[in-house]
Amino acid sequence: MTRIRKAIFPVAGLGTRFLPATKAMPKEMLTVVDKPLIQHVVDEAREAGIEHFIFVTGRNKGVIEDHFDRQFELETTLEQKKKNAELELLDRDLPGAGQASFTRQQGPLGLGHAVWCAREIVGHEPFAVLLPDVLVKGKPSCLKQMTDAYAELGSGSNIIAVEEVPMDKVAMYGIVGIGKAKGKAHEITQMVEKPARDKAPSNLSVTGRYILQPEIFNVLETQPKGAGGEIQLTDAMVTLAKQQPFYSLKFTGKSYDCGSKIGFLSANIAYALERPDLGPALREEMRNALK
Ligand code: G1P
Repeated sequence: MTRIRKAIFPVAGLGTRFLPATKAMPKEMLTVVDKPLIQHVVDEAREAGIEHFIFVTGRNKGVIEDHFDRQFELETTLEQKKKNAELELLDRDLPGAGQASFTRQQGPLGLGHAVWCAREIVGHEPFAVLLPDVLVKGKPSCLKQMTDAYAELGSGSNIIAVEEVPMDKVAMYGIVGIGKAKGKAHEITQMVEKPARDKAPSNLSVTGRYILQPEIFNVLETQPKGAGGEIQLTDAMVTLAKQQPFYSLKFTGKSYDCGSKIGFLSANIAYALERPDLGPALREEMRNALK
């Protein structure tokens, strides 16, 4: 099957880097301009043709489920006040009936474990994974670029979005080594999670967007803990790469690591600057602030 219909959004993380903002609110609900991070990433997936949105949540994440549901009182009030633009906005953001699923990761065991928690909902078909910590501003969206590449590479392949990072940052990411080009993609020859600078095969980091084959679930089932004492998706991909092709795709666009404060602030500025209703006024404010 060369169509990717389902996407997993791992949203169980604690968000300790954003305390106290994330004491009672999930980090995925932090807003970039006027949309929660998770909504930005769901919109990216929708642009790529994703039809089923699978959220792997955890304790205190109930508000994410509420965000993707109807808010009866709010909508009734908006209707009465004839606020049609707002109503349309809410409607546009909502997954269709039965198109969102929620499952729980019952402990902080790592990204690999979070993905594995979604295995029953994904079933036996290729799927996407999008990490909501990372926003990618691209046209078309990063995942759309990947699904297009997948259609060209043929079914049965795995694709990881990558980008260059400074060598002194490689220990913060999954890093890949690449070989021959195939269309816009490159064969992956090595993958390593958070390597020391002198162990990194390149400076190409895994950006938080994946297209994976369902066989990854069998690997994850027995995957031992890796970097940081967590079950790592990267380690499972290394095992699967012995049986299946893995490609990297250097996407066109700019990524923002919203798991870090500077990345989050930069994303807010970049997304606001391109908005016709906010950009000019913000530019002016920034000019004054920087004087
Ligand atoms: C995860 C992945 C890592 C990837 C990163 C992108 O790490 O394990 O391979 O490069 O996301 O943000 P985390 O940031 O969850 O530690």
